[in-house]
Amino acid sequence: MSQSESIRDALNFEERIVLDNWAHRNVGVEDYRSFHQKSLEKFEEFWAGVARELEWFKDFEKIIEPGEYPNVYRWFVGGRLNLSHLCLDRHVKGWRKNKVAIIWEGEPVKENGEPQETRVLTYYDLYRYVNRVAYVLREKLGLKKGDRVAFYMPMIPELPILMLAAARIGVIFTQVFSGFSAEALASRVSDLGAKYIFTADGYYRRGRIVRTKEIADKAVETCPTVEKIVLIRRLGSTETPVDPAKHVYLEELLEDVKSNVYVKPEELESTDILYVLYTSGTTGKPKGIIHDTGGYATILHATMKWVFDMRDDDVYWCTADIGWVTGHSYIVFGPLLAGATEIMYEGAPDFPAPDRWWSIIERYGVTIFYTSPTAVRAFMRLGTEHVTKHDLSTLRLIHSVGEPINPAAWRWLFELVGGGRCPVGSTWWMTETGGILISHTPGLKLVPLKAGTNGPPLPGIEAEVVNEDGVPVPNGVKGYLIIKRPWPGMLGPPTGMYGDPERYNSVYFSRFGYFFTGDYAIRDNDGYIWVLGRSDEVLKVAGHRIGTYELESALVAHPYVAEAAVIGAPDEVKGEVPIAYVVLKADAPASAKVQEELRKWIRERIGAIAEPKSIFVVSKLPKTRSGKIMRRIMRALAAGTAIGDITTLEDEAAVEEVKAAYEALMKEIGGKTG
Ligand code: WT7
Repeated sequence: MSQSESIRDALNFEERIVLDNWAHRNVGVEDYRSFHQKSLEKFEEFWAGVARELEWFKDFEKIIEPGEYPNVYRWFVGGRLNLSHLCLDRHVKGWRKNKVAIIWEGEPVKENGEPQETRVLTYYDLYRYVNRVAYVLREKLGLKKGDRVAFYMPMIPELPILMLAAARIGVIFTQVFSGFSAEALASRVSDLGAKYIFTADGYYRRGRIVRTKEIADKAVETCPTVEKIVLIRRLGSTETPVDPAKHVYLEELLEDVKSNVYVKPEELESTDILYVLYTSGTTGKPKGIIHDTGGYATILHATMKWVFDMRDDDVYWCTADIGWVTGHSYIVFGPLLAGATEIMYEGAPDFPAPDRWWSIIERYGVTIFYTSPTAVRAFMRLGTEHVTKHDLSTLRLIHSVGEPINPAAWRWLFELVGGGRCPVGSTWWMTETGGILISHTPGLKLVPLKAGTNGPPLPGIEAEVVNEDGVPVPNGVKGYLIIKRPWPGMLGPPTGMYGDPERYNSVYFSRFGYFFTGDYAIRDNDGYIWVLGRSDEVLKVAGHRIGTYELESALVAHPYVAEAAVIGAPDEVKGEVPIAYVVLKADAPASAKVQEELRKWIRERIGAIAEPKSIFVVSKLPKTRSGKIMRRIMRALAAGTAIGDITTLEDEAAVEEVKAAYEALMKEIGGKTG
């Protein structure tokens, strides 16, 4: 099989689509390759040049140096800057002062289908609001540089405002996805030692109200560091019970704060922590990923130009939730650094009707659209008419993120949404990388688009595909994706992972000596990377990262459960879904309700996004003679591939049992088994 055939085979992509308006006919892969090569030859100078395009209070003295712990790097040492200054002050000093920064739309609609609420914030509005909130944080809540706070915020403008206000005074924040449970919130708040939780009274999602305040109330019971919950009024109702000893409304704190109050942005060190974001890994406990200030700003600045080709007349929309890194980087800091006009939407894509997103694109004339394959697949099921009835002709560029894009979803985006005019890319990155590292670069005009691939590594990024032993594999052969050099935006000092430099090293560096992404990938002869999916015990469920071990630990913490194994099964819309096999304790009640009980348990301990598609009660799990659960076998069953060698297996009956349970599921959901 030829190389391109094997890639096509792996990904089922039929063709290479080269767009005239993107790939300039006289430049091509070779030009990009030499550009990329030069960026690596002059690696430090290259990144310094990019960084100096930002405004620094004080220039850096050193481009990069090793940190205190192994594999931690300090970027732009000695440099001082502030993200709130770069996203706001810098713009309001010039012509962008009255440019629209954020157009926000709430979920509820009027009888005629028009949104009930929209808010338009210019850069000056944002600047004013952020200054006032920063004043409250510092003067009324007593927060200072290095203190930590947690946001458990829905998609309302106050979330970016809080993030920018914290950044302004050097307060480290973590934003916890508003769909996570009280327990998931509490574990993150405790790990970070946050002094306050900021949340809304509630928000709207698919026509219902989610009362985040109630969840935060439950979480603080086990969070001794939290002094108060600061509430942002979203619902506008008076029905939310508050206890003055525990709660305070932000709007009350703001009441007597002058509209022109000015809080001078802290001159932060480039290496100071901007935020910590928790993400799932291969153990039970989520990892607190640290992002610094200067390196992070640099990768975002670079990728807004190279990948999004952001111009001042663009209307940009990233459909992610700010609870995930995509929203941190490409709703809050990236676009605002770039002085963009962007859309922010509160609710569900299909509420009140399946055309909500497409109506948003039409109504605001969106030009750059950043979305996920899962969302696309969900829309594909709803029919094309919801899309075609809207005028999407303003779109000029589309990117996706979160998981590999399958051919059908790519084609749907390219043809139906982009009208065959817009490049459709698949930007590869991770919570850990801070920003996009592998992508087509429309802003550089150097690379032809190839359907379905992630594209080449960005300038200054050295990616490699290696085998088990860390040896590069030939083009066209599947291997593990590693990043060979540090990059601005990587996990930040002092410890990479919050409070855990050992885990940082063991998770990312122990296997290959270089940063290991956890992904399988193929590199083709053009040097383009095709990321195929995770190689570890991490699932991508609707693009969200869920550790199977995290789910298993939650399950075995239930009093009925003796053992649990969770694996990913293919799913047409979500890409992958968790399915769980549990062995119950002998004294567990023999009730048909046990599955329901365990589902509820997972929703309470992690959140609805982690709820297994199916939970099977089995009498044993397939194990090796040494007692290790043979997930490979379980996964193979789920993927319908050959089981392979099972000579180390202790009990073949367990395989049969798991197989039978899985087949029953597939019959039920209409999937296939092998
Ligand atoms: C994992 C990281 C970074 C934003 C959202 C996800 C997968 C991400 C792609 C893509 C193929 C992708 C990888 C990666 N992934 N983007 N364009 N093509 N796979 O962040 O939750 O930290 O997950 O998402 O498997 O390791 P995350």
